[in-house]
Amino acid sequence: MNPALSQLGTDMSRLSGVRAIMKDIIETLRAGAGQTFINLSAGNPVILPEVEQLWRDCTTELLASSEYSEVVCRYGASQGYQPLIDAIVQDFNQRYGLNLSDRHILITPGSQSLYFYAANAFGGYTASGELRKIVLPLSPDYTGYGGVTLTPEALIAYRPELEIDQENHRFKYRPNFNQLQIDEQTGCVIFSRPCNPTGNVLSDDEVNKIATLAATYDVPVLIDSAYAPPYPALNFTDMTPRFGGNVVHCMSLSKAGLPGERIGIAIGEPEIIHTLECFQTNLCIHSPRYGQAIAARAIQSGRLAEISTNVIRPFYQHKIEIVEATLDRSMPRTLPWYLHRGEGAIFAWLWLDELPITDWEFYQALKQVGVIVVPGSTFFPGLREDWQHKQQCLRISLTGTDLELQTAMERLAQVAEQVYGR
Ligand SMILES: Cc1ncc(COP(=O)(O)O)c(C=O)c1O
Repeated sequence: MNPALSQLGTDMSRLSGVRAIMKDIIETLRAGAGQTFINLSAGNPVILPEVEQLWRDCTTELLASSEYSEVVCRYGASQGYQPLIDAIVQDFNQRYGLNLSDRHILITPGSQSLYFYAANAFGGYTASGELRKIVLPLSPDYTGYGGVTLTPEALIAYRPELEIDQENHRFKYRPNFNQLQIDEQTGCVIFSRPCNPTGNVLSDDEVNKIATLAATYDVPVLIDSAYAPPYPALNFTDMTPRFGGNVVHCMSLSKAGLPGERIGIAIGEPEIIHTLECFQTNLCIHSPRYGQAIAARAIQSGRLAEISTNVIRPFYQHKIEIVEATLDRSMPRTLPWYLHRGEGAIFAWLWLDELPITDWEFYQALKQVGVIVVPGSTFFPGLREDWQHKQQCLRISLTGTDLELQTAMERLAQVAEQVYGR
């Protein structure tokens, strides 16, 4: 059967961006039976024993409690499971000196859905036919933003400034405030902090500047905090989460070891939260409650925050240090390679300036030596302008073992030497 698709159906079915790469990776792994690959493409977090134990313990407690049937045998409120909402309100009020009530919180089935609601509730065409933009202020950013809008022309990303440390082969993206346009035609602003794919953490000043600019026009700013403190706390540099006004602090429990349970959390002003909640009611009524019930226990007891800072963060911080040290040791000093400053998240981002081939070709060459990474060009959703830099980067997942990361970076250095030497 081959049913005709609507324009939207066609848009949503398109094998674009990272989905095309993932298909290629799955096919490579299948076809290469017998060949071993070091697969550094994944965004899936490593299953850490302490983290798994936490979720097992919370599940055991839930199963033994009288709450169980209430959790899985009943529908609930769209906004989320009340004990989880209460745990978040209490934890954030105490931790950050806020004055949140439960009307400031929305629980969604994963945070990806949260961006989908926001992109379409605030971005796209207004009733009078004006196009409201979804602004990504610093490109590259999370590839998933590329698929969240039902109005693709609404998505617009801005090219960053590059702060380059030639001597040490490091660089950092900075928002270009001379270019960035946030005005009455902006529907909402979204960025990840720490950033997937680059590991960048926008400074507190940069965040304040963006939020203040947007506040002038009553524009919501969704700060994607999938890697931020307090959980999973995958920041390796100090950062202060920002709350209140037009800012929506958006969290995910995926990188805190619960990607399968799909838990996203939005914290923002009740008017914004209410709009997002209405979207959710229409789409799926509410998030599944089993994951919410175990998350409530992990947050309320303080165990999730503790494991995040004492286990999850050091694990990945050690991994980025291995990547940095191995590249520093193996990459030829004369080549124009630059590693993005590893300030957080679970990825390293490598820029190969003046690369004689494309990122896709480099990815293919790496596969030949048994290493899989993700070509960087998939991480510039909304950035339509030609920019060679888009074809010069690679995302390296920090989910490998120490030895895998070291071996993979050594092989990458050899491939780079060959490619530039041609
Ligand atoms: C920056 C960022 N935002 C959002 C998501 C989606 O996460 P979730 O599992 O909560 O839908 C991811 C997943 O990798 C991510 O890296």
